[in-house]
Amino acid sequence: MKILVTGGLGYIGSHVTVMLLQKGVEVISVDNLDNSRIEVLNGIKAITNKEPFFDNLDLRNQNQIQDLFKKHTDIDGVIHFAAYKSVGESVDKPLAYYQNNVGGLLNLLKPLCELNIPLIFSSSCTVYGQALKLPIDENSSVQPASSPYGFTKQIGEQLIKDCCKANSDFKSILLRYFNPVGAHPSAKIGEYPQGIPQNLVPFLTQTVIGKRSLLKVFGKDYDTPDGTCIRDYIHVMDLAQAHIDSIYYLISSNQKFSCETFNVGTGRGFSVLEVIKAFEKTTGESVPYKFTNPRVGDTISAYADVKKIEKQIGWKAKYSLEEALQSAWNWEKEIDKNS
Ligand code: NAD
Ligand code: UD1
Repeated sequence: MKILVTGGLGYIGSHVTVMLLQKGVEVISVDNLDNSRIEVLNGIKAITNKEPFFDNLDLRNQNQIQDLFKKHTDIDGVIHFAAYKSVGESVDKPLAYYQNNVGGLLNLLKPLCELNIPLIFSSSCTVYGQALKLPIDENSSVQPASSPYGFTKQIGEQLIKDCCKANSDFKSILLRYFNPVGAHPSAKIGEYPQGIPQNLVPFLTQTVIGKRSLLKVFGKDYDTPDGTCIRDYIHVMDLAQAHIDSIYYLISSNQKFSCETFNVGTGRGFSVLEVIKAFEKTTGESVPYKFTNPRVGDTISAYADVKKIEKQIGWKAKYSLEEALQSAWNWEKEIDKNS
């Protein structure tokens, strides 16, 4: 099998690439290095003793995509990660987000629809906003997007659904990730945030290693058991496995559907304070933190109903929150050692 992974040197793409190579799949990895480093290839090689075919390519460039599909005429499926992903930045630079996340997808969809190559798309639980009912299942209504980033995911989902409707031989799976955290158990690849991390776990590990002075816990009076927000934190290894299972499901069996949407989470919600306590317990490190005002626009509580992916694809998260946090900490120490 030959799979094209876009954004293949990024956080999630690199973990999926490792798993595909370990299964003996041939991987074509493309990335323009906007939010990743070429050294990630060394990590992938160190873990797998193999390497993907790598192309430094920008999905906004239609000619480069055409050349790629001329060069590789036997691609069985595509897993599309390449996009910008910072919510705050998308508010300041909406055009860059629409150009990259929507424009890049449009360019990619052209050959995929023409050649009927199946696609896995990285969507996000952000499309649900604050859902009325928890856990959130795939039928929960999509709320108006609270950021350009979130809107690019909604547009992406709709674009793909429209293409599937227009061409019944083109099939796709939309994966709505909850909160990916953690790193590969080898600590050879992981999340590498540029600048100040906006997300909880990288901010926490950077605080404990000493790069930041204090973790700010956004809000303490929410209507939750301990007053802090609740999320569904999924180990990146589990998330990567969900892609492997999904691409096999999409390619190898004769599915009747044309486009299906699945949540990818653990089904369990943890509060910010529970994450801090779990980190302290598993690593033995203490987390300096203080409460601050709530973050504008924060969802109070979000965790996934994962029955659909379990039943239809047979995937289920295996790692605990503690294992995910320990791996994030091991990776942070590895970054520190090499910096
Ligand atoms: P990431 O930034 O680590 O990886 C994305 C990769 O795509 C980067 O290596 C970047 O250099 C590359 N890229 C961006 N634009 C490109 C372009 N035009 N051409 C070629 N390469 C390009 O992000 P990630 O955390 O691995 O996320 C992967 C996908 O999952 C994204 O689509 C993101 O929106 C989605 N997602 C992520 C999260 C999360 O919390 N990490 C949650 C939900 C959804
Ligand atoms: C992020 C993304 C969202 C995406 C979702 C799932 C942002 C702003 N949003 O949101 O688009 O769909 O992941 O992948 O990036 N927190 C603190 N202190 C911090 C950082 C976070 O208390 O320094 C809290 C937040 O209030 C929240 C929780 O930790 O309750 C998780 O925050 P974060 O990691 O940013 O994820 P999401 O808010 O779920």
